[in-house]
Amino acid sequence: MNHPTSRVHGGSRAIARRIDAIPASGIRRFFDIAATMPNVISLGIGEPDFTTPEHIRAAGQRSIQDGETHYTSNFGLLELREAIAAKLAKRYQVRYDPHTEILITTGVSEGLNIACQALLDPGDEVLLPEPHYVAYPPNIILAGGEVRAIPTCSADGFRPRINVLEAAVSDRTKLLMIGYPANPTGAVLSRGELEELAAFVQRHDLYVISDEIYDRLTYDGDHVSFASLPGMQARTVLLGGFSKSYAMTGWRLGWLAAPREVLEAIMKVHQYVMMSAPTASQCAGLEALRAGEEDVHLMVAEYERRRRVMVDGFNAAGLACQDPLGAFYCFPDITSTGLDDETFCERLLYEEQVAVIPGSAFGRSGSGHVRACYATAIEQIEEAMVRIRRFTERIRGGA
Ligand SMILES: Cc1ncc(COP(=O)(O)O)c(C=O)c1O
Repeated sequence: MNHPTSRVHGGSRAIARRIDAIPASGIRRFFDIAATMPNVISLGIGEPDFTTPEHIRAAGQRSIQDGETHYTSNFGLLELREAIAAKLAKRYQVRYDPHTEILITTGVSEGLNIACQALLDPGDEVLLPEPHYVAYPPNIILAGGEVRAIPTCSADGFRPRINVLEAAVSDRTKLLMIGYPANPTGAVLSRGELEELAAFVQRHDLYVISDEIYDRLTYDGDHVSFASLPGMQARTVLLGGFSKSYAMTGWRLGWLAAPREVLEAIMKVHQYVMMSAPTASQCAGLEALRAGEEDVHLMVAEYERRRRVMVDGFNAAGLACQDPLGAFYCFPDITSTGLDDETFCERLLYEEQVAVIPGSAFGRSGSGHVRACYATAIEQIEEAMVRIRRFTERIRGGA
């Protein structure tokens, strides 16, 4: 039967068309290959190697023992929202009402998805600096939006240029999506650069989704929250999380802050797709905010040590690598090897058993680079750097 609604697309009639528009993950393929090989050092996954600090785990366990096994409010535990509001006021001088302007989510992953669904109409355009976190385009596309990539380059430290943004903006542009400190580049924007971005947003009457999941992982000065800039709180959906700062990836916990009427719209989606974030995780998150500061400092100090080893290792291997200013990724330029980033990663994996991710998985302007995560034990990083140097010397020697 050749009925228009039964058109075969993407190989199966069962699959919705918008799913076809989502690019396949360039990361998963490498994990699948690496998982079948012995003795692989993986610098691929963007996850802390630390286990969640003991007192935070205990708080989660205690909540279960105490029978806190029910849904929480759709907004999440009020105490946790209050702790987040207090943190935002203290660290970033930005004030949110914990009753109406903060929502606890199942990770920043959920926050991204429900924010896009609540803000985007079909055909709305989203300006997205690239290279970018892999989940940004799919979430925009799933909500019916269209991605307008804003290329950046290593000579600019992967910071977006205002003239490039100006050239991309149209009367269909609704949103700017940003994530600083950045995955995969480690880029951080200074207050002055963020203010320029804010002026651009104001000029074109845009809204912003600002993913600040790496806010605590900076190595050269403190993070500036986009929502704290004059006039920006009213235009921003601010996303934050626990996964990276407190090594809590498996707990699936994050939060979202936005002006009341925007949060109400986002809540409509959250309450029907998620109801509430896991209760034990929320109790653990509360402990993290109340008593986890020391842990954050210890982990950041350790990341800083590893960052040095990795940056120096890449440069010693002839792969130009700038100091990442935040998050926990190096993004060296591999073009001096004469290989494209996909081939580089594939050969490095097969020949030296080191897994890194091709930069092009994060958008076209990531090509010619690879992403390596330094949230990995220092001995592993040291050994990986020996293998990478051996690999580049062999390539340059003509092998
Ligand atoms: C930039 C960025 N945002 C969001 C996430 C997902 O965070 P969560 O674990 O809170 O869902 C990640 C995870 O790698 C990330 O790198």
